[in-house]
Order: sequence, then C-alpha cells, then structure tokens
Amino acid sequence: MVLADVHGRRLRNLRLSVTDKCNLRCAYCMPEENYVWLPRDDILTFDEIAQVVDAFVAAGVDKVRLTGGEPLLRRNLPYLIERLAAKPGIRDLALTTNGVLLSELAASLKNAGLHRVTVSLDTLRADRFVSIARRNDLHHVLAGIDAARSAGFQGTKIDTVVMRGVNDDEVFDLLDYARDVRAELRFIEYMDVGGATRWSRDKVVSKAELLERIATRHGPITAIPATDDESKSAPAERFAMSDGTSFGIVASTTAPFCGACDRSRLTADGSWYLCLYAKLGIDLKKPLRAGESTEQLKERIERAWRLREDRGAERRLALHEARGALHDDDELRKDPRLEMHTRGG
Ligand code: GTP
Ligand code: 5AD
Ligand code: SF4
Repeated sequence: MVLADVHGRRLRNLRLSVTDKCNLRCAYCMPEENYVWLPRDDILTFDEIAQVVDAFVAAGVDKVRLTGGEPLLRRNLPYLIERLAAKPGIRDLALTTNGVLLSELAASLKNAGLHRVTVSLDTLRADRFVSIARRNDLHHVLAGIDAARSAGFQGTKIDTVVMRGVNDDEVFDLLDYARDVRAELRFIEYMDVGGATRWSRDKVVSKAELLERIATRHGPITAIPATDDESKSAPAERFAMSDGTSFGIVASTTAPFCGACDRSRLTADGSWYLCLYAKLGIDLKKPLRAGESTEQLKERIERAWRLREDRGAERRLALHEARGALHDDDELRKDPRLEMHTRGG
C-alpha cells in the first residue's frame, strides 16, 4: 500500500542534516552573533544514519539530500556518501553546500558516488559576499563550483536567495554566470523560516516581480511545464528565456508548494520534522539508540506520516499583513532545532 499523509502526499524526499555547524553566517539564515549548538553526543553516527535511512527507504523515500548547517564540515562525509550511494533504493543522492570547502572535496564526493550538488551563491561581488555572509570566501565558492564541474558533476544548481536592497541588482549577472559555468540558477524567495530573525515582507522579491524584471530585459519567458510526479513536487518552477537559458524560482514565500510537498527533514541529532515550519519534531534517536529494528523504525515513520497535516508555508501566507519573523532570538536559543541551519536549508 502506498504511504500517504492526510492530504494524499507521498513520503519520497528526505533532507538529511549531517551537522548544525556552518562556516558562513548568511544574513537570511544566521544573522545573530551567537548560537546554541546541538550537544556533540547527540549527533547521529554514520552507522545510526545508515540504519535510519534504511528505515526511510523502506517507507518509500527514494531521494536523499545531505544538508547542514554546512554538510562538508562533517568529518569523513565522503565515507557516509559511499555508504548511502550503495543503497539501491536511493535513486537520487544530492548535497546542498555553501561551496566554501567544495574545491577540496569535489573529487572525493564524486568518487564516493554522490549524484548531484547544489551550491548556494547570493552574490558575485567579493565585498558584498563579506557583508552578506560575514566571511571573505567568495573566491573559494567560485573555485568550488569550477571544481564540481571538473570532477564530472552534471545537473549542478546554484541557489540564490534574493533580498531587496541587498543583492537584487545582481539577478542578470548571476544568470550570466550560471549559464557560463553550465549550472542552473534558482532564485529563492526570502523566507520567514527558523532563524531568519531579520525577515520582513518588503525585503522579499517575489516570483512575479522577478519574472517581470527578467522579461523586461531579456524578452518573453516561457514556463517549462512539470511533467513527471517528481518535478510536480519540486519546490522550483522552471522557466526558459528566448536564448534557451533555463532558470528556476522557488516561490515558497508567495506561492507555496505545500499541496505537493513530499519532503521531510532529519536533524543531525535524529529529530524528524514533517514540515520546514513545524514547531515540534519526532525523536528518532531515542528508539534508534534503544535498539529498535529497522522494521520497527519504518513502522514508526509510517504511523507519523499517515497523520501528517502540515502546510506550514501556506499558513504563513494566510497571515497577510501580519506576517513577520517566525521566531525571536529567545525562542531560538531555547530550541536550536527551530533554526533553518539545524533542520537543513
Ligand atoms: P532538487 O529539486 O532535488 O534539486 O532539490 P531541492 O530544490 O529540493 O533542494 P534545495 O536544497 O536546492 O532547495 C532549494 C530551496 O528550496 C531550499 O534552500 C529552501 O529555500 C527551499 N525549500 C526546500 N525545501 C523546502 C520545504 O520543504 N518547504 C519550503 N517551503 N521550502 C523549501
Ligand atoms: N529564505 C530562503 N532560503 C533560505 N535558506 C536558508 N534560510 C533561508 C531563508 N530565510 C536556504 C537557501 C540557502 C540554503 C543554504 O538554505 O536556499 O541557499
Ligand atoms: Fe512542505 Fe511545510 Fe515546506 Fe509546505 S512549508 S512545502 S508542507 S515543508
């Protein structure tokens, strides 16, 4: 029997955070000076991750994305990838990275069997990179994108969070850059998630506005229709410009895709979140460490998924004018799992 939640949505896509640590401090994700980290002993080992992933695969997951924090900070990550890549149930194994360590690791990630990478890149200007991410690393990120290509990765995506007055004047430069490095650029609407304590509606550049701006400059844009189930549940809508360049927009803020959402997230300490906006997660570390079998974990996952009702982004949209930052700093300190960098960007 196909596993579906209350709204008929399948469980297919697991975002697996392997560390809550990050080596950047992006304004839309980690704007504060200090953070509370997950206790070290709580971080799942590779054996534990492998077992829990087996349980998810048995429950229907066939797409796994490694996230962080910054996943490349996790020691021996290529070894974990090797273990996950060997699982026949995983059809798509990808990684979302900020790219800082990618030039060092691209070849070993590829050799380990990773299928795809997505690199976050919000600006092409070194001084601006420092003001957005508070580290002087643009050259490392660009070298990382080159290294991914040299290592033989295909289908690389570049994710840009667009913020009004911060980097929205680089839309065209980023499109040109992505085309030159043969990656697909995706503009991401600034979201009122977890640690985005500086979020405000006026800083969001919507899908509608972006399309209008790009069309004014480059001429008509055509939507690339989602044909298969997988692209229908993907967060990005894809578009093509008249010269053939394609790009995507993730419009989670103004046009949420909750109705088709097949994804969930596991934090590095084994808390399972059924929605990006969920307040509470389901503790899988405890049963795992108590010695539950993979079959028992799978049943636990299935029971929870059947009850899933979440439509977090739609509920945020329904707030209209009342919408503001989701959490304040105090709430985030009490529960670091509310942070986007803990539940996987
Ligand atoms: P593929 O389609 O497999 O390439 O991956 P993806 O688009 O799911 O992954 P990626 O990590 O590149 O996600 C892009 C961005 O979409 C994230 O960084 C978030 O900003 C947003 N996003 C991802 N998952 C969710 C989600 O569950 N809910 C909402 N509202 N936004 C999400
Ligand atoms: N809004 C939109 N995207 C975000 N990310 C993290 N925080 C936010 C936010 N507030 C996503 C971006 C980034 C990745 C690491 O996490 O896609 O590239
Ligand atoms: Fe899925 Fe929740 Fe994101 Fe909506 S907000 S797309 S339900 S994770």
